[in-house]
Amino acid sequence: MQEQLPMSTRKILITSALPYANGPIHLGHLLEYIQTDIWSRFQKARGHECFYVCADDAHGTPIMLKAQQQGITPEEMIAKTKVEHMADFADFAIAFDHYHSTHSEENQFFANQIYQRLHAAGHIKRKTISQLYDPQKEMFLPDRFVKGDCPKCGALDQNGDSCDVCGATYSPTEVKNPRSVVSGATPVLKDSEHYFFDLPAFADMLQQWTRSGALQDEMANKLQEWFKDGLQMWDISRDAPYFGFEIPGAPGKFFYVWLDAPIGYLASFKHLCDKIGLDFDSYWAVDADAEVYHFIGKDIIYFHSLFWPAMLEGAGYRKPSAIFAHGFVTVNGAKMSKSRGTFIKARTYLDNLDPEYLRYYFASKLSSSITDLDLNLDDFTQKVNADLVGKVVNIASRCAGFITKRYDGQLAATLAEPALFADFISAGESIAQSYEHREFAKAIRDIMALADKANQYIDAKAPWVLVKEASTQQEAHAVCSMGLNLFRVLMHYLKPVLPKMAADTEAFLNTELLWSNYQTPLLAHAINPFKALMQRVDPVKVQNMVVASTENLQPTAQIPSTSAAVIPPTASTIAEREPISETISIDDFAKIDLRIARIVAAASVDGADKLVQLTLDIGAGETRQVFAGIKAAYSPEQLVGRQTVMVANLAPRKMRFGLSEGMVLAAGPGGSDIFLLSPDEGALPGMRVK
Ligand code: MSP
Ligand code: ZN
Repeated sequence: MQEQLPMSTRKILITSALPYANGPIHLGHLLEYIQTDIWSRFQKARGHECFYVCADDAHGTPIMLKAQQQGITPEEMIAKTKVEHMADFADFAIAFDHYHSTHSEENQFFANQIYQRLHAAGHIKRKTISQLYDPQKEMFLPDRFVKGDCPKCGALDQNGDSCDVCGATYSPTEVKNPRSVVSGATPVLKDSEHYFFDLPAFADMLQQWTRSGALQDEMANKLQEWFKDGLQMWDISRDAPYFGFEIPGAPGKFFYVWLDAPIGYLASFKHLCDKIGLDFDSYWAVDADAEVYHFIGKDIIYFHSLFWPAMLEGAGYRKPSAIFAHGFVTVNGAKMSKSRGTFIKARTYLDNLDPEYLRYYFASKLSSSITDLDLNLDDFTQKVNADLVGKVVNIASRCAGFITKRYDGQLAATLAEPALFADFISAGESIAQSYEHREFAKAIRDIMALADKANQYIDAKAPWVLVKEASTQQEAHAVCSMGLNLFRVLMHYLKPVLPKMAADTEAFLNTELLWSNYQTPLLAHAINPFKALMQRVDPVKVQNMVVASTENLQPTAQIPSTSAAVIPPTASTIAEREPISETISIDDFAKIDLRIARIVAAASVDGADKLVQLTLDIGAGETRQVFAGIKAAYSPEQLVGRQTVMVANLAPRKMRFGLSEGMVLAAGPGGSDIFLLSPDEGALPGMRVK
């Protein structure tokens, strides 16, 4: 047997971002954990010393308030959530070497140590700042716990830091008619001393590090913009009441959750080291020869590529070898939405579908870039069925029966097509390179091209015909044995993505799938009877999953029994309604010129997550540009071609991104619950609505 062990053994520590302990794991999260797990399994399979750790992110105001709402302590809440998270991960075969919590002894130790080292080096400053305070609840309010009217356009009931209607961003102190989301009280301004981390002191180091290859190009470019704007001091303290660690020597002041969150990577790893007798410093000391990688979503790049390396540097630890960011999951082309049933929890998925479908689907679409990834549920069904069931499993199911029934479960003693087998083997290094560079989609494409080849081979030889004649029975044996040898190589390549199906294959083929032995064909080898390795995706179950995920966000009214041919006030009316506005005359109404508009183009707006730039055809060859705050509910692709209604005589408004020449009409409370109006069929652009 030709032992081909990997080049040289590397020491690799891998992490995924720590999920917040106040909500369930959903399919968006899972993109990250599946991506990381595939990479970690691949590195381990190649023979490297590799560890994958993670933890729950347990601190912060939202967690504190949610526990209060549920009438339990934060400790109780995070303990319960951790059990749920770990069960979800285990069922998706996410193989952490350790899963910890940021509310742990180790994390408090490292948070204090890092803070004290930064403090001793003069990197911590104190400054009194003025912030919104809830006098009733007696607590300072994070931006997202303040609501009020937009200071720019006056829109009612907007977030404390940004307006969904006009896209403006502002400070919560600028909001008109502010109110506390926690108690409803009017917040007041209150002074308090805060502790700051001197990020600007690390500007030179960060400029250099971010260009050293530690970041994807797309990320490094984004960071250049942040450097241009200048780095700011980072506020790392929060006042009591707060669920977190009290700052040493500062009674009543707590570490801001984002200070101790990444330190959780160290804490989790330390716990593992203590458990298995590993040398922590050989991974984290400045001169450590290990590699450290953080997988994260693109929304938390700032924390991981600026604050975190600066903290590590300032406290005498090594910096990560690289940060690997990924894009966001959309479902059926739009942001995950509870009302559409596309905000799918890990558990709801597991109640309906095989986790390996999702692992495969994500792998087949993942690359090293930070572009978003769409989980199109029809495509999901079609792709898993066509590739895994139709191609890969098909090879085994067409060959296995004959081997078991006719040839006593023994594979042939010689290989029928050594050249074809050699092709399959030689693809291995390029597939390994694709895994290594996180180009999983490319690896999957290459593997599926091989699966096509294997099926073509079996089709051409038609062993089901050969077995019928005594003179060709030996050939039938050779062909089926060849088919199973090709299947084995494919499953070996797919093992990081499909650990369960690979384990079942190992039981069936009576061999372990290893990088050290996959080059040697199985000859005169006994296999076990074949059992179906994967069921087809049942579209009904996909549908059931969506139905189970659909939340009616409005309080529902009782449906009265009725016999008359009227539509009863159903669950789909709203119980709590905004008051009807003051009466106007028909002349007042006539002032508003509403027109049918066709959306001829729609685009995202750089720097405004909530806005879509629409080009509207309003008839007679005229188009209008409108910026609409509907991005959370609609992707640009979904909008193009639709007709809607616009206010055509609204005074144009200059926005940061350009001129907005009108407004499109939509209903709903906001966020992902916005419903654009559409006219009935037959309406044409430019027609007046009256
Ligand atoms: N607690 C912080 C991370 C601290 S790391 C020191 C956090 N938690 S989170 O629960 O909001 O997100 C955890 C990870 O899941 C993040 O990397 C985030 O980007 C990722 N995702 C959350 N929703 C996602 C999608 N819809 N799509 C892809 N990834 C998503 O952030
Ligand atoms: Zn506004």
